Amino acid sequence: MKILVTSHIAQKGIEIFEKAGIGVDTVIGETRESLKAFLPLYDGIIVRSETRVDKDLIDHADRLSVIGRAGTGLDNIDIKTAKEKGIAVFSAAGANKVSVAEHTIAMMLALARHIPQATGATRRGRWERHRFMGIEICGKTLGVIGLGLVGKEVARRAKAFGMELCLYDPYIKHNDADEFSLDVITDPKLFDSVLGLSDIVTLHVPLNNETRGMISHHQFTVMKTGSRLINCARGAIVNQDALLEAIDSEIISGYAVDVFDDEPVADPGHPFYSRQNIICTPHIAGMTHEAIERASTEVCHKVVEYLKKRNLTS
Ligand code: 3PG
Repeated sequence: MKILVTSHIAQKGIEIFEKAGIGVDTVIGETRESLKAFLPLYDGIIVRSETRVDKDLIDHADRLSVIGRAGTGLDNIDIKTAKEKGIAVFSAAGANKVSVAEHTIAMMLALARHIPQATGATRRGRWERHRFMGIEICGKTLGVIGLGLVGKEVARRAKAFGMELCLYDPYIKHNDADEFSLDVITDPKLFDSVLGLSDIVTLHVPLNNETRGMISHHQFTVMKTGSRLINCARGAIVNQDALLEAIDSEIISGYAVDVFDDEPVADPGHPFYSRQNIICTPHIAGMTHEAIERASTEVCHKVVEYLKKRNLTS
């Protein structure tokens, strides 16, 4: 019985396998070709967002019976193929919700007060107080798109900052957002109105066929002029060309983005990097010691339990 770990996970996660007597190998940064070559030797694989577990990879994994995702998003895993082949998939949804929500709030404040740009200018010896005039977020309306585990954590924190909330989620369950004492907007026909009402919009939906390009040319035409957009969910939820047009024509006054269409983006010529009103981080919203430890231990426990139940650990 052997597990392959393809990304950095917490040592405590690795120890869960060791205690259960399951062999575990960690290989970071391998090419797809070499992953395909060793995957047939393993019964399980633990991944994070950088490993695309698609049909091609699964087809090379003859022994694989379980995939563990040490995190929330499952868009990098071909769940359908896994299911067809009887491979179980586990994630640690919510393990990083506080970290992602805190990063979202950090991005919102950074956008409102131009913190990255002001840091850059100050370091270059430029004392430009007037250039970096900001806005208060208190009293502004935050459009929270997707009121799942992360969206709710963001909304709670925004409320504490004195923001007005406009909550949108077509899939919210009855009473699930009672704590906000607000009607959550669930009708997709009202999505444009949510965008039109919000001073700042933050996205917290998974990436799937329904949400890919959810913010595109049309949506920018209905957003409040000068509003700001935050994306700590998935890059492809926002159409990149439409976003660049909206930024360049000042329809929106800022974009804070942690996630890109095709990661990693090491190209210094990426169009986001040259625009002063786009602030970027390299998919680090969930990168805290606490979140990684929680996600790693949770998913490793689930995988061990599954293997034990199926008597696959001996
Ligand atoms: C997630 O989906 O949990 C977040 O995007 C973090 O992903 P990561 O674990 O690959 O950093």
